[in-house]
Amino acid sequence: MGTNIAIFASGSGSNALKIMEHFKQKPEVATVQLLVANKADIGAITHASTYGVPSVVITNLELKNNPARLTQILRAQGIQFIALAGFLAKIPAEVTQTFAGRMLNIHPSLLPLYGGKGMYGIKVHEAAIADGAKESGITIHEVNEVYDDGKIIHQAKVAVDEYDTPESLQAKVLKLEHAWYPLIIERAIKGLNA
Ligand code: GRF
Repeated sequence: MGTNIAIFASGSGSNALKIMEHFKQKPEVATVQLLVANKADIGAITHASTYGVPSVVITNLELKNNPARLTQILRAQGIQFIALAGFLAKIPAEVTQTFAGRMLNIHPSLLPLYGGKGMYGIKVHEAAIADGAKESGITIHEVNEVYDDGKIIHQAKVAVDEYDTPESLQAKVLKLEHAWYPLIIERAIKGLNA
């Protein structure tokens, strides 16, 4: 039986979709068992229902005031691995501790550049362009209590051209995210089970 994954997302969920597509073909490696969202009516929930993956919405306030609810849900679903995919809320410490070494995040820049609190979405790419960066890319890292601070597992680069805008750079970086994130999650899970 494969490892049970929960994906946490807050937005369109294009990475969540790629992860669900990937593991649908590899049930012996992992099954996406749950989508955790911090708001309703987001693309990620739609993608989850297409794939028959149950979703749960836990608001930021609930995460802060009642983190035990999330812990209970993860336990009840037998979750063994967490993939953050555009989840814009702080993960409760009890979850980062329980899932130490079993939780990844993806960030759309070459950390430590353009990371940290408040650096998400188009802001990351605006900062790279404003900086005159010649390259950018993705970082897949383990998650601890500090934003964008965990051990780096994988980076991949893309050139920033002189005619790139924050939007065009975002599109290029997103393609890299989709290509790499499912593969790196698979590699991490296989490493844990080896
Ligand atoms: C991605 O750029 C990811 O790196 C960041 O949030 C974005 C999520 O996009 N953490 P999507 O919802 O997966 O399309």
